[in-house]
This record gives sequence, structure tokens and C-alpha cells, in this order.
Amino acid sequence: MAVLVTGGAGYIGSHAVAALQERGEEIVIVDNMQQGHRKALLGGKLYEGDLRDAAFMDTVFQENEIDAVIHFAANSLVGESMKDPGKYYHNNVFGTLCLLEKMNEYNVRKIVFSSTAATYGEPENVPIDEYDRTLPTNAYGETKLAMEKMMKWFDVAHNIKFVSLRYFNAAGAHESGKIGEDHSPETHLIPIVLQAALGQRPHISVFGEDYETADGTCIRDYIHVSDLADAHVLAVDRLRGGADSAVYNLGNGTGFSVKQVIEIARAVTGKEIPAVFEARRAGDPATLVASSDRARKELGWNPKRDKLEDIIKSAWSWHEANPNGYGDK
Ligand code: UFG
Repeated sequence: MAVLVTGGAGYIGSHAVAALQERGEEIVIVDNMQQGHRKALLGGKLYEGDLRDAAFMDTVFQENEIDAVIHFAANSLVGESMKDPGKYYHNNVFGTLCLLEKMNEYNVRKIVFSSTAATYGEPENVPIDEYDRTLPTNAYGETKLAMEKMMKWFDVAHNIKFVSLRYFNAAGAHESGKIGEDHSPETHLIPIVLQAALGQRPHISVFGEDYETADGTCIRDYIHVSDLADAHVLAVDRLRGGADSAVYNLGNGTGFSVKQVIEIARAVTGKEIPAVFEARRAGDPATLVASSDRARKELGWNPKRDKLEDIIKSAWSWHEANPNGYGDK
């Protein structure tokens, strides 16, 4: 039986493909290559196309014996979602609806879903657990929450079981050195800081120094992309074992401010990395830190690369060796 990975040529998807490959799973990948990279695929059979193309998806389900889906394919930028929410509703929400309908049609009843801390919005409690209020402050988070709710009702009506993994901030690169982060344009903090270290940018712009945090900059919980990938494999196992649907947070449980990230990156790279303070970015909550106790207990998940310094070192190895990423965009 094969695992279908949608968005498998993207940053987190490609690390999940690598993790599935390492344990000998048969892998089918669907990616429209909007953000994906062919070179990011260390295994699997690629179908290039879009979830919203019904005839294309018929071919994928007819040509393969798929028993589980890991669903990454989505747009995922907070800032962009505030400017173009329609793009997010179309690709994320409608794309997921198309996928779930095809899964139902082809009797595929297990899905692991790439969700996000952005579903919580400004948290009521820190660290955040899965019972906390979900009130997104940006359109991206709202679409991911809508996708989770859609899965809930497809479970009720059609018995499609889901595991929704709400990640905090993914960072780092695969230990093989073969795959890593390459977004175009890049918007995430750690790769931008490292591009500044490489001299590809004059400085890092810090968005907001007036948040209610110790140093005034936003706090996030950074988690290594390979630890995230491992959680997806565990979630597939759990669904194959007959478990019920569930939602899990994935983070290390420690928050770092933007200023702290820059300081650690300066130490790791030995570079100056100039910082310039600018206005807040729309839609950013002040603090997002995970409680992942549930994932540890129920999935048996145990993040191995949990020091931010090591996560930044892993990202730095990739960026130094691949200053232009995969070089294909
Ligand atoms: N930041 C800067 N300057 C930059 C880029 C980012 O100051 O040039 C700040 C942001 O304002 C934020 C922090 O660094 O406070 C982290 O920003 P990222 O863009 O790296 O990540 P986000 O927290 O906005 O979002 C990421 C993913 C989302 C996910 C979210 C969950 O992109 O998909 O984490 O926390 F939902």
C-alpha cells in the first residue's frame, strides 16, 4: 500500500517523504510545483498537478494502491494571506474539499494533516494545548482551521479518520545535506537571518519591538523539520492501527524572541547580521509556544533536535552549501 503525500516537493513535505523513504514505504507525491522543487524529492513517484483537477486526481488514485494520505499542499504565508485571502480559501480550503471527496470516492480513510499554531491566534494560555481556544488572527490560520473542521465532518459522515498536526515554527534542514528550506520569496525568520549572514541581504528587518514580551519582539517555538517529519510517520502508524481522529501540537515547548534568534544566529555563523527595527507585520500573534505532551504520550513522538542552536546550525549548513537553494526558481 502506498502513502500519498500532497505537497511532497515542498519544505516540510520533502522531509516527510525522506522519512517515509527511510523506512521503505511506497510513496506517491502530488505537487503542482507552485512552491515545490523536483530536487527536494529523495524518493517516491511524482505526479505533477493540482488537487482541484478532478481528472488528474482520478489518475493518481486509479494508478496506485493508496491507503493513507499526508496532506501538505497549501499556501502557508501569514503576511500573504492578509493581502490575498481568496488565494488561501481557493487553494487551501477548496483544494482540501476536492481531496477529501476523492478520498471518499476511492475509499481511502486515513489522512494526516499539516496544520498550524496559527489556528490558535493570540493564545489565552502559554504553553498552548489542544483544548485551548482557536481564534485565528490571520486568514492563513483561519483556512487551516476550516480544513480541520471539514475533516471532522468527513469523519462523522464518511469515517475518514484524520490526525491534524499543528506545527509551531519549522526550521532546519535534513542531516544528509541534500534537502532544506528554499522558498521564493523567502519570508521566514531563520532563513532570512541566514541570508543576511551570507551577505545576500543587507540586514534582517525585525517586525515590531513593542510587543508585550520581555524584549518587545515576538516569541516563537522553533521545531526541527525532521522532528516534524517523524511525527507524520508516527501519525500514519497510529491511523493504520485503527486509532480515532485527533489533533496534536508539535513544538519543543520553549519560546525564543526574534532578538534571541538573531543573537544565536550571530554566534552560530560568526557573522555580524545587522538588524533594523520596523513596524509590526499584520496578523502576527505576540507569543506562540506549544505544549506537545499529547503528541509525546499518544504518538510516542520525541523530538531529537530540540536545541535552537542545533536547529540553526542545521539550517546554516544547508544555506552555506546551497546559497541559492535548489537553484531552480
Ligand atoms: N520576522 C521578522 N522579520 C522577518 C521575518 C519574520 O521579524 O523578516 C518575525 C515575525 O514577525 C514573527 C517571527 O519572526 O514574529 C517568525 O516569523 P516567521 O515568518 O518565520 O513565522 P510565523 O510565526 O509568521 O509563521 C510560521 C509559519 C506559519 C505557521 C506559524 C505558526 O510560516 O505557517 O509559523 O507559528 F502558521
